Amino acid sequence: MEHHREAWSGRSVFILAAIGSAVGVGNIWRFPYVAYENGGGAFIIPYLFALLTAGIPFLFLDYALGHKFRGSPPLAFRRLHKRAETIGWWQVGICFVISVYYAVIVAWAIRYFFFSFNETWGDNPSSFFSNEFLHQTDEANVAFDFVPGVAFPLVVVWVLTLAVLIFGVQSGIGSLARLFVPLLIAMFVILVVRALFLQGAGTGLDAFFRPNWSALAHPTVWIAAYAQIFFSLSVAFGIMLTYSSYLGRKADLTHSGLVVAFSNSSFEILAGIGVFATLGYMANISGVAVNEVVSDGIGLAFIAFPAIMSTMPGGPLFGILFFGALVLAGFTSMISITQVVVAAIEDKFDIGRVPAVLGVGGASALISLLFLPTTTGLNILDVLDSFASNIGIVGVALVATVVIAWVLRRLTSLEDHLNSLSSVKLGFSWRLFIGVITPAVLAYMLIDETITRIQEGYEGVPSVIVNTFGWGAQILVIVVAVLLSFTPWRRTHKLDNFEPTKAGTRV
Ligand code: ALA
Repeated sequence: MEHHREAWSGRSVFILAAIGSAVGVGNIWRFPYVAYENGGGAFIIPYLFALLTAGIPFLFLDYALGHKFRGSPPLAFRRLHKRAETIGWWQVGICFVISVYYAVIVAWAIRYFFFSFNETWGDNPSSFFSNEFLHQTDEANVAFDFVPGVAFPLVVVWVLTLAVLIFGVQSGIGSLARLFVPLLIAMFVILVVRALFLQGAGTGLDAFFRPNWSALAHPTVWIAAYAQIFFSLSVAFGIMLTYSSYLGRKADLTHSGLVVAFSNSSFEILAGIGVFATLGYMANISGVAVNEVVSDGIGLAFIAFPAIMSTMPGGPLFGILFFGALVLAGFTSMISITQVVVAAIEDKFDIGRVPAVLGVGGASALISLLFLPTTTGLNILDVLDSFASNIGIVGVALVATVVIAWVLRRLTSLEDHLNSLSSVKLGFSWRLFIGVITPAVLAYMLIDETITRIQEGYEGVPSVIVNTFGWGAQILVIVVAVLLSFTPWRRTHKLDNFEPTKAGTRV
């Protein structure tokens, strides 16, 4: 008998949950530092290009797959074709890896939320972050010296994540999104408006928006833009696919997708405006150029911001809003990332929701707790994030587009599915973007990134960490994906010749 699938109560809760997933630490913590490291303002052009030609088209593809084939990634890809299941597991594996480090950023944000009340970081936020907070060492290997100040909030993040997932798609994820997404938007708008009134904000915005044409000649800037868009929109690694599988049979997919993509990028650009306005203020009071205000990318949110808060009137409130927003945004995304893995295990192995949540979440929580809240955790996090987004997501997105468009030739049928339900119709340009332009760019990205990383290593991080958590983790994900796709389906599904029924009401 076909298993009863969970469902959203309506389209609005789906949209809120999808926005909750898309808007995450990627928007607030990652976007500003990636933009900053890739030419500042110059970044916005490749970013918009990647959004329009790859991000949004891919979001539609994810929606088409999840909605048409009504399953988590392995089930949806299995229904697409019997040899395609591995792609689904590959996506699931990437989510597993991301969840391991993503939780840590949320945990940091929780700590910094509380630090904001009395600006615990004192006069030297950079040293506070590395030494007093993370207890970082220069140890080249992986050290298992625990840092309780990170481990404790990390346990809290995992417990809350699993608790929400146990309540299920509608009561857990949907209800949380209904509460958190509006709150997050309100907090963030207040924050950005405040930032815009800081003295020197204009200088920061000028640095953000002024195109630096010469930076556009660097392929790395384009690669970073594509990677950022995929990560930030939660596309190509199973999340949007999974979320759309819980929609009613008739749902306006492309319109919902545009709402989600537009909200996500507005939020991201808003975050960029807020961050650069604030950096402009800092540059102004220190009498230096904006690009000299921060030196450390990954620490931008946790070093530059605290430093700025210490100098501004009402700094603690600014900190509370900023880190509070980071916690809310991160948490709703964390839920979506873990849900992909839970849904896949439920679909394949016919186990109930609670054991699936506890088993899968427990496994990722353990790995996360073992490696990340340690004195070498920062490097591990950096490597996990960089390889998952620039190699893993790019790789799986490339293989998925090539297989769907060229090997199985299913773009037209997926387009028909979207068009039969949606108000915004797709046409030739969608097939061109998904079938030709996006895979071409992704292939270039993957080759270029792989060669660079093999030749030069990764940003001076010790090779044992790069080989284990970078290459090692990404290769392991593929090996496990292949193995799982050879495992028999324990839950009864219609796998072959699956056709969605046309019954149901439009939601
Ligand atoms: N889309 C999520 C983020 O931006 C993963 O953080």
